[in-house]
Amino acid sequence: MVVLICLSRVFLLSLVLLFSFTDLCNSQSNSNNRSIEYLKLRLLHKDPFVSPAQALSHDYHRLSVLFSSLQSRKALKAPVISGASTGSGQYFVDLRVGTPPQKILLVADTGSDLVWVKCSACRNCTKHEPGSAFLARHSTTFSPIHCYHPACRLVPHPLKHQPCNHTSLHSTCRYVYSYADESKTSGVFSRETTTLNTSSGREAKLRNLAFGCGFRISGPSVSGASFNGAHGVMGLGRGPISFSSQVGKRFGNKFSYCLMDYTISPPPTSYLMFGEEPEPIITRKPIISFTPLQTNPLSPTFYYIGIKSVTVDGVKLPVNPSVWAFDRQGNGGTVVDSGTTLTFLAEPAYRQILTAFKRRMRLPRTAGAALGFDLCVNVSGVSRPRLPRLSFRLVGNSVFSPPARNYFIDTTEGIKCLALQAVNSPSGFSVIGNLMQQGFLFEFDRDRSRLGFSRHGCALL
Ligand SMILES: *[C@@H]1O[C@H](CO)[C@@H](O)[C@H](O)[C@H]1NC(C)=O
Ligand SMILES: *[C@@H]1O[C@H](CO)[C@@H](O)[C@H](O)[C@H]1NC(C)=O
Ligand SMILES: *[C@@H]1O[C@H](CO)[C@@H](O)[C@H](O)[C@H]1NC(C)=O
Ligand SMILES: *[C@@H]1O[C@H](CO)[C@@H](O)[C@H](O)[C@H]1NC(C)=O
Ligand SMILES: *[C@@H]1O[C@H](CO)[C@@H](O)[C@H](O)[C@H]1NC(C)=O
Repeated sequence: MVVLICLSRVFLLSLVLLFSFTDLCNSQSNSNNRSIEYLKLRLLHKDPFVSPAQALSHDYHRLSVLFSSLQSRKALKAPVISGASTGSGQYFVDLRVGTPPQKILLVADTGSDLVWVKCSACRNCTKHEPGSAFLARHSTTFSPIHCYHPACRLVPHPLKHQPCNHTSLHSTCRYVYSYADESKTSGVFSRETTTLNTSSGREAKLRNLAFGCGFRISGPSVSGASFNGAHGVMGLGRGPISFSSQVGKRFGNKFSYCLMDYTISPPPTSYLMFGEEPEPIITRKPIISFTPLQTNPLSPTFYYIGIKSVTVDGVKLPVNPSVWAFDRQGNGGTVVDSGTTLTFLAEPAYRQILTAFKRRMRLPRTAGAALGFDLCVNVSGVSRPRLPRLSFRLVGNSVFSPPARNYFIDTTEGIKCLALQAVNSPSGFSVIGNLMQQGFLFEFDRDRSRLGFSRHGCALL
């Protein structure tokens, strides 16, 4: 079951209310000076020492999740909440939730909205495996949202739920949140105090963060191997309940991240930042390119961008621009998602790119079908293998030219595979995955509705 959140006027009203319940208290900083307040969270990789082969098996797992989601999307005939393999992404945020704070690891996901945490209601949790869930009863600041509260209208409810009894103090707001592959989390929509690190290393308390306290969790993208170690998801989508929406008001409604190449040893640190660093720290502003964020009313969660053309080694491919765009029914489009690893491209763009790569490839080809890839080359003994260059011209005339390591992955020693996948379903959408985003600063400017990116921006974060 896929449930959708529509932004009607009623919801917009509650959105304002939701914001007013969320306030950030940082005793040491001057709350009137916005520019000095920003949040800088470390992004952790699931397993920094993962070998490429293991990484691939995770990718492969995610990939099948994406395939099934894209295929089911048409049948469901409803906009999906989450991009693709939500929950199986590789970048995690470490948060402190509750009072006293409990350490929680969440998947950073721009392809979904809800912030949720695996919850346990046990009172005496001594027997409970430590760190396996958020222990709501061990926190003095945990408070379930009442079903009559306007904030409760922002979450999808279970199909069979009792009507809200507004005279009963104990009628909580029940939610069920479904991902594209029908993975689900359900529980009680609640509020909690979150402790975060600010730029200066000081801790800031975010009170009344609305989140899902998840008691039932099912499906491959939110449990199992690909979710390995995470306690939930930090939805960073565009909907009112996402983390970025809730903290946005406070931090200029802008967030950015830099996903560093985790195969580098030792792995560099990646950051997720809300707000902007004050000007004095930025001695030399890097050149940032911008492309407008497009809004699909039928999938209000996603950050859509527009692709005008694609080139391989500077040669423009004859792809009709409509291949990248969403139609009147909200199908298709191109989404930037931190929670999907590989990049998924709609047909016939994928086929054309693949053909161009095959034609230009001078290295010996090797079988990759077993791994799920259409093009693999043997680079053993080649000191600097020359790989064709892929480049996207975006709406607004900016050009995104990722380095080859963002779209070729080492599957085994000496074997590189083109890390692109085809989207075959006519209603499926293209996804620029996190591998493709590595090494770039991405800035999601929600007020100005634009996406900034910079090859030289990571030094800033
Ligand atoms: C905010 O702080 C910065 C740096 O400390 C300072 O340059 C700026 O003038 C302050 N702005 C306001 C409105 O106080
Ligand atoms: C919880 O455990 C403590 C110490 O083991 C015990 O004293 C207390 O009675 C227990 N409370 C409940 C509700 O079981
Ligand atoms: C609503 O809750 C009140 C107080 O708990 C109770 O007296 C009443 O019967 C409930 N109403 C319904 C329709 O369940
Ligand atoms: C903030 O950073 C410090 C130092 O890195 C760390 O000890 C602390 O646990 C962090 N706090 C939170 C809330 O992440
Ligand atoms: C790759 O090429 C090397 C020699 O150039 C060869 O020894 C090796 O077996 C090849 N690997 C595959 C998987 O084809």
